[in-house]
Amino acid sequence: MTTLAANGLSPTDFDFLAKLVLERSAIVLEQSKSYLLESRLNPVARENGFDTIGELADALRKPNHRQLADAVVDAMTTNETSFYRDIHPFEVLKKQLLPELIEKRSKEKRLTIWSNACSSGQEVYSIAMMIREHFPQLLDWDVRLRATDLSNDILERAQKGIFNQTEVNRGLPMQLLMKYFHREGVHWQINDDIRSMVRFDSVNLIENWPLTLANVDVVFLRNVLIYFTPDTKRQILAKVRQRIKDDGCLFLGGSENTMNLTNEFERVQVDRTVYYRPV
Ligand SMILES: C[S@@+](CC[C@H](N)C(=O)[O-])C[C@H]1O[C@@H](n2cnc3c(N)ncnc32)[C@H](O)[C@@H]1O
Repeated sequence: MTTLAANGLSPTDFDFLAKLVLERSAIVLEQSKSYLLESRLNPVARENGFDTIGELADALRKPNHRQLADAVVDAMTTNETSFYRDIHPFEVLKKQLLPELIEKRSKEKRLTIWSNACSSGQEVYSIAMMIREHFPQLLDWDVRLRATDLSNDILERAQKGIFNQTEVNRGLPMQLLMKYFHREGVHWQINDDIRSMVRFDSVNLIENWPLTLANVDVVFLRNVLIYFTPDTKRQILAKVRQRIKDDGCLFLGGSENTMNLTNEFERVQVDRTVYYRPV
């Protein structure tokens, strides 16, 4: 019997699939990533009844392949995330930015925080738990925690708020696990009180964004720009600027910055982290 791996991936099929992924998600796949494409698309091919990735590519060349194309894009996204990832941005949010915003917004009593490219939700749930733990004065505020991602599969997972033991071992203090989660079989589920603080929506960064994502106070856009070309990063940062309040703030991932991409944000370094303010 021929195995999928043994069939390899032709340069033509690689180019075709890389273009499809680029057009639908802006994720750039260099030829050197052909191993990644193969290892991630082998299961997609199998699950959809194809013997080879070549056959999968052929099916995608025919019309009406939306679901299959979504599955391919989903498989090519990297969903790596963790609770309180890199910790310092969350510390700055807790110690400096939220107290400042609470003072500034004390009349309207409304705050909007957007976790963009939220993956399985650990980032936004980290913020939600922080708010419950440290900002009881926000209980009667209109706090809007919005979380968006391109992948419907990952959003469905995020919305359920179910995590395995390895996931809760990464970055989540035991005291928060005990307080805000309950057992769900061998997994852990975040309690409804925290879960209901968050609204999850499907948003592709390179397509239209919902109008309701406007006047945002804090944008988390972490560890996703790395997958895009400089031009795409520029376009996305320009759109973020339109959606963020003049005195709001933006967090990027540890290896991301705005250099040569935009002059509409200034870099602010606090302790061991950096955030960006509109100028
Ligand atoms: C590495 S995760 C980052 C998760 C989280 N922000 C963090 O820093 O831990 C990257 C996420 O970006 C999402 N993504 C990739 N391309 C996207 C696009 N064009 N629009 C929206 N989300 C996208 C992926 O689905 C994935 O969940």
